[in-house]
Amino acid sequence: MTTDWVLSEPPTELTGLTAYDLRCEHRVDPLGIGTARPRLSWRLASPTRGDRQAAFRVRVLRDGVQVWDSGWRDEPSTSVDHGGAPLTSQTDYTWQVEVRDAAGRVSGAEASFATGIFHDDEWEAHWIEHDYETDPYFEPPVDRAEPRTVRQATIAPPRYYRRSFELTQPVTRARLYATAHGLYQFSANGQRVGNDELTPGWTDYRERVAYQTYDVTDVLREGENVIGAVLGEGWWSGYVGWDTRSHAHHYGKKPQLLAQLVVDHPDGSRTVVATDGRWVERVGPIRFADLLMGESYDARHELGDWSSPGYDAGEWAPAGDVGGDVSTLIAMTTEPVRVTSELPAVAVTALAPGRFIVDLGQNLAGRVRLRVRGAQAGDRIRLRHGEMLQADGELYTANLRTADATDYFVSAGAADEFFEPVFTVHGFRYVEVDGYPGELTVEDVAGRVLHSDTPVAGRFECSDPGVNQLLSNIRWGQRGNFVSVPTDCPQRDERLGWTADAQIFLPTAAYQADVLTFFENWFADLAVAQTDEGAIPDVIPHVITGRHGTPAWADAATIVPWTLYRIYGDERVLRTAWPVMRRWVDYVHRANPDLIWRNRTSGHYGDWLQVGVKTDRDVLATAYFARSVEFTAAAARVLGLTDDAAKYGALHDEIAAAFVAEFVDAEGKIRGDTQTGYLLALAFGLLPEHAEQAAVKHLVADLERRERSLTTGFAGVALLCPILTKYGYADLAYDLLHDDRYPSWGYSIKHGATTIWERWDGWTEENGFGPVAMNSFNHYSLGSVGEWLYGDVAGISQSEQSIGFRDLVVKPRPGGRLTWAEASYDIPSGRVSTRWELSDGTLTLDVTIPPGADATIHIPTKDPDSTQESGRPLTESEGLTPLDSTPDTTLCRAAPGTYRFTTPA
Ligand code: BGC
Repeated sequence: MTTDWVLSEPPTELTGLTAYDLRCEHRVDPLGIGTARPRLSWRLASPTRGDRQAAFRVRVLRDGVQVWDSGWRDEPSTSVDHGGAPLTSQTDYTWQVEVRDAAGRVSGAEASFATGIFHDDEWEAHWIEHDYETDPYFEPPVDRAEPRTVRQATIAPPRYYRRSFELTQPVTRARLYATAHGLYQFSANGQRVGNDELTPGWTDYRERVAYQTYDVTDVLREGENVIGAVLGEGWWSGYVGWDTRSHAHHYGKKPQLLAQLVVDHPDGSRTVVATDGRWVERVGPIRFADLLMGESYDARHELGDWSSPGYDAGEWAPAGDVGGDVSTLIAMTTEPVRVTSELPAVAVTALAPGRFIVDLGQNLAGRVRLRVRGAQAGDRIRLRHGEMLQADGELYTANLRTADATDYFVSAGAADEFFEPVFTVHGFRYVEVDGYPGELTVEDVAGRVLHSDTPVAGRFECSDPGVNQLLSNIRWGQRGNFVSVPTDCPQRDERLGWTADAQIFLPTAAYQADVLTFFENWFADLAVAQTDEGAIPDVIPHVITGRHGTPAWADAATIVPWTLYRIYGDERVLRTAWPVMRRWVDYVHRANPDLIWRNRTSGHYGDWLQVGVKTDRDVLATAYFARSVEFTAAAARVLGLTDDAAKYGALHDEIAAAFVAEFVDAEGKIRGDTQTGYLLALAFGLLPEHAEQAAVKHLVADLERRERSLTTGFAGVALLCPILTKYGYADLAYDLLHDDRYPSWGYSIKHGATTIWERWDGWTEENGFGPVAMNSFNHYSLGSVGEWLYGDVAGISQSEQSIGFRDLVVKPRPGGRLTWAEASYDIPSGRVSTRWELSDGTLTLDVTIPPGADATIHIPTKDPDSTQESGRPLTESEGLTPLDSTPDTTLCRAAPGTYRFTTPA
């Protein structure tokens, strides 16, 4: 287990300005980076108020010899691109950063990285696969003896591959570069290599197949060595999505493995062991494995020490060598999926002899680890996974559609056996264990949580347990759905990278984890999938749907890169995305010369899963058109494309004008008169001032008419609380937050939700389970209110012009039932924290601003003049500059540092 997915402790015992959390290409000590000019960055902390980085210096070293020195740069920036000669392929580097404060004091820190394989001709590896022609030990795919297994005949059992080789010299360094068309897990000399799961992850394999790099120096030795891998189907050739006609084989018919082990010796020589026809392979205990369907493991077929020296592989068959086309290979650029937590079972209920329901207490994506005691050889245990239980206590699986989500374990009869599948992932809280010998106890089962191991970046907590549960549900929604790509859901036969879900949830996701490389990687697949005309498919990586260009979905093309740039401040995101952004808005414009987006709207899902209302589709589409054009213009400005900036800037204003002319009536009502209609217009800034005020009035009136109840679907929900708060209706936003009537977040929580439900009516008192055709209990879109919890309730956001949170806005909004709230968040330059508490008529606000940022702080108060900081008037407080306050807010500008404000509340 790597982490428990909690925010790391901030650096402590600081004596002065300190650089920490050094990253190369936004990752800590990465191996196998794919660029010769990596970006190097660091965070800053300091115990001293007002402390800033006056200058920095970065040096890159190879074998202790300097290859680049940035020289001292009098800049506050906490990142720099390697500026020396391009780095060399397959090489280890260290790098150092020194930071100097205003007083001239210097401190430093060091980190490392290694480059990957830069040139195609460095690959000696060939793709290898099971050769059905020559294999004398061919075993047909197992019949899993279940009614729904007919279509599974296309999934062949995973196979084990190995290669034994001699090393005649000691090892100074050994790196394994590995990937698959399929899913793989490597071992070397009897030990598992790394702790990544579901590698190489899901990308658009037609164009991009990521290889991973592992350090195996300590595992290899002089003499005989063995490396080997087990290879499954995964996204490459297993089931993906719902379409049982095209079912499996989206990218290929059978899995293939590719790997290259590069061993350096003391005399400077190198041994390369690469996949080719000298590898041998066979089937083993994993008899079946599929991401959607599940895994079957027969312990009677275990292969013993198959990846260790001295093993007799005489019966293994030669692997088929299918050549060395490496044109699609790319270095892995983001964190892989890992097991990030292990959850103990909280309850086991016996339903019948040998049949139990296990409750893990939490809906999650992952699998279980099962201990089997006292089984006879050949005993078969079945594990079915589900998110909910039926009223009769049986597992509810109807909402999984055709995903079997079923694992099997067949015992070899040993006293104590353990089973955990390798090449499958389920979305579940409950497991039905059937055929278990004797009594199953909570100690026998644990939930293993799997997701992309994006570094945790934030935490939020407050005085209200319901709100904390909501935040927990949002976090678990993120964990359950950031599995290599941002998916809609982890349980049913879908699990696709729906573009609207991703863009809507991104701002919330980024408060909780560093998702920059995760989304950059996904966006690369979006770019690949853009049609010649410029449209973007509904799901990325692009499989299954023929739909493309859907309003709010395809707009991920502009919203994702712009949002990433705003949050992380890395201009490269925009440089890469620019052609995609431009081509996308041009596509919509060409089809809609009158600027109302009616044509080429593809599937047009409108405000997906709204309740009881119909937001006008043209309103939604045109608002999104304006939004996309606005971000395209903004990107052009950043990139210095003056003509494009002017062109798209003007186009944006014209769309906004067309929007008003077409949809806003004399009373300021927006066609359809729905919450989402107003929210889109307000959030996207489409209205002139008089219409803006009217829209706020109509929005509030709609909510009041409905007794303060929401109607928003995916598109509107993220905007609801932020917009109400922005326009002075934080009380309404809090009412929605605390609401537990249907439809609300609280309603699901009242009924036991531990994740965000796909639909407001996933389960209701009146109707029980919602429509079975589409009813996921782990879908993050409606959880996009998380942005408001961090940004407004805890009050951590940035000004409209700010990039990378350099110009922070600290504007907490005490309200609702909350008596305190706190949050911490890692911005690019360091960690921001806020905490407010109301007690005895006093508001106490603690704020920490890291070096590298400044903040405008808004302190809500009954008496702006009596606000104090650490017991002093603000004017006497170091690091603070009072600004003009309003009757209910003390305003000040703060330099980096830690502050405690008190004021009458
Ligand atoms: C998915 C969504 C997606 C929607 C589009 C659903 O099946 O689960 O989250 O955005 O389709 O209509």
